[in-house]
This record gives sequence, C-alpha cells and structure tokens, in this order.
Amino acid sequence: MKALVTGVAGFIGSQLAERLLDEGTEVRGVDRLSDYYDPALKRTNLTSLADREGFELVEDDINSLDAEALLEGVDVVHHLAGQPGVRVSWGTEFEIYMRDNILSTQRLLEACRDGHVESFVLASSSSIYGDAESFPTSEDARPAPVSPYGLTKLAAEHLCRLYHRGFGIPTVALRYFTIFGPRQRPDMAFTRFIDAGLTGGTIEIFGDGLQERDFTFVGDAVAATIVAGENGRPGAVYNVAGGNHATVVDVLEILGELLGDPLEVTHKPPVIGDARKTGADTTRAREDLGYAPQTSLREGLALQLEAQRTALGETGGDSGAP
Ligand code: NAD
Ligand code: UGA
Repeated sequence: MKALVTGVAGFIGSQLAERLLDEGTEVRGVDRLSDYYDPALKRTNLTSLADREGFELVEDDINSLDAEALLEGVDVVHHLAGQPGVRVSWGTEFEIYMRDNILSTQRLLEACRDGHVESFVLASSSSIYGDAESFPTSEDARPAPVSPYGLTKLAAEHLCRLYHRGFGIPTVALRYFTIFGPRQRPDMAFTRFIDAGLTGGTIEIFGDGLQERDFTFVGDAVAATIVAGENGRPGAVYNVAGGNHATVVDVLEILGELLGDPLEVTHKPPVIGDARKTGADTTRAREDLGYAPQTSLREGLALQLEAQRTALGETGGDSGAP
C-alpha cells in the first residue's frame, strides 16, 4: 500500500505519516512549508520521518506541481494540506484560504479521475457547523460556518461530494474537532497557554472563556484518519471528535493543576469567527469505522505539556508561539 499524505510537515500530517509507516504503508508526503507559522517547526516535524524506509518527501505546492505525477502509484490519499486558523481568515488572507483549501483540493480530485485511487480522505473541520443549532451535532445538521476558513473547508467538502457523484472517486470527509497534543500548531490555544505557563508569560483568554470545544487528541484523530482510508463509506462525511467537552476556563484549571503554579491570565475581546460551542455526535464514525477515542483531556494535555517542556529546553526558550 502507498499513501499520499498532503500537509505532511504539519501538526497532524506528520504524525499520520509516522503511524502509516509504523503499519507498513509506504508514504509519499507533500508540503510547501507555508509560513502560516514558523517553517522551522515544520522541518522539526519532518526529522523523524526523513530517514525512514518507505518515506518520500515532495517539497512543493499542490497548486503548481504535476498532480498526476504526485499521485502515481498511490492507493490512498490523505489530504490534510491547507491553510488553518479560524480567527485570522478575514481580509486579504482569504485568498490564501481559497488557494490552499479549495483550489488545491480541486486539483487533487481532478488528478484522481482516472479511478486508480481507492480512497480520498479530506481533513475537514468542525468549523463548517459554525454556531450549530443543536448538540450533539450530527453530520446531517445544517452547515453554517461563522468564519471564512470554515466556508473554505465546507467548499472542499462539496468538491469531494461532486467528484464522488460525478466520477465515482471514493471520497471521505472527516470533520476534525479542535485537535490537541504534541506538535499542536503555535497559533492554537493549548500551545499558547502552555508556552505562557512555562515561560512566566500571560495567558490571553478571548472573550469570557466559556466557549466550549469537543477537544480531540491527535493520536485519536490519526487513528480515525487511517481507518477512514480503509473502511470509510465512499461519499460519506464523519465527525471526528474526542468527547472531551470543556470550556477554555476548564482547560486552564487542568493546566494549572498540571503545572502546579497559578497561571497569569488576562481577558481580551471575543474574536469574530470563533464558534461559541462545538460538540459532536460521533455515532456514524463509531458504527462505520469502529472509532473510539482513547485519550482524555487531562492525559493529552499532560503529554503536550511534556513535549513543549522538552522543546523549550532544546531551543532555549523559543517555542515559535506567535
Ligand atoms: P498545519 O498547518 O500544521 O499543517 C498543514 C500543512 O499543509 C502545513 O505544513 C502547510 O505548509 C501545508 N500546506 C498548505 N497549503 C499547501 C499547499 N498548497 N501545498 C502543499 N502543502 C500545503 O495544520 P494542522 O493543524 O496539522 O491541520 C491539518 C489539516 O486539518 C488542515 O487541513 C486543517 O484545516 C484541518 N483541521 C485541523 C484542525 C486542528 O484542530 N488542528 C481541526 C480541523 C481541521
Ligand atoms: C481549531 C483549529 O485551529 C482549526 O484549524 C480547526 O479547523 C478547528 O479547530 C476545528 O475544530 O474545526 P479552534 O477551535 O479555534 O480551531 O481551536 P484553538 O485555536 O485551539 O482555540 C480554542 C478556543 O480557545 C477558542 O475559542 C479560542 O478563542 C480560544 N483561545 C485561543 C483563547 O482564548 N486564547 C488563545 O490564546 C487562543
């Protein structure tokens, strides 16, 4: 088996590639090492992959490379490349979201039209729901993104649906719910909170801190992604969530306990584009994929804390957090 992992230098993609190689799948990884956050962190993510047998890196942009050549010999596509970041997707930045989330997906799907790919898994997002009308939110709920980022992820899902319907490409879209754990992106909440906690900085809470998420440990998201490539129903969409329901304030309480020190916190205004609450119904993933998340918020947060503590020691204090 050969898998293509797009976004292989990223937070989730790098750990997905490692797990696939562990399971004996060959991996071709592609990444343009975009500067959404420090590319040096992405290079670090790649270090444990570089010398592994069965791994091949294509350092290039999906929007300009030869997509047919990229897909040659590939059985399963895991399309995780994209421009992330919910709150900064307004303004002129939107063009990058269009390019990296919509156009790149369309280019890859076009290159799959010859029918040789057995599964095309898209990393979609809980952000396609926006402020959902009901909880737990099932895949059939009405999508209504509240950020331009969410809109581009929903468009990518629709492209998958169209190419499945029109050309029989076996697409599977996974709606990841706020992923955390080692290597979490430096713009995301836990990395920022831990970084401030470890370096004596001030934690910024956007709004009242009572916004709620269904946090998902990266290892659980990776496991779901691999099974989706094997057993996902062609054309289907699945919620992938950890069942760790917590507010930002709840998270900070656990982090304070883990650090054993009081945290310094300040409140900032709420950010436009931030959903108030996410919470998934994961029945479909459980029934079709046997999905069962394993890692609790406290366990996963402790693992992320240890990883960041180690990285801080190695870099002399620069975590890359913006
Ligand atoms: P990440 O930024 O760490 O990884 C994405 C990678 O894609 C980056 O390394 C980037 O350089 C690469 N990339 C972007 N555009 C590219 C292009 N045109 N060609 C080649 N490479 C390109 O992000 P992540 O947190 O690992 O997220 C992975 C995917 O999962 C993204 O699509 C994201 O939207 C989605 N997602 C993430 C979360 C989360 O909580 N992290 C939740 C829902 C969905
Ligand atoms: C995350 C990812 O960043 C998106 O790529 C992804 O698509 C999305 O999950 C998803 O599930 O679809 P988000 O839920 O905003 O987005 O995750 P964080 O950046 O970790 O933020 C979590 C919460 O903490 C948000 O409500 C945010 O406002 C808050 N926060 C974040 C703060 O209060 N302070 C900070 O410094 C950072």
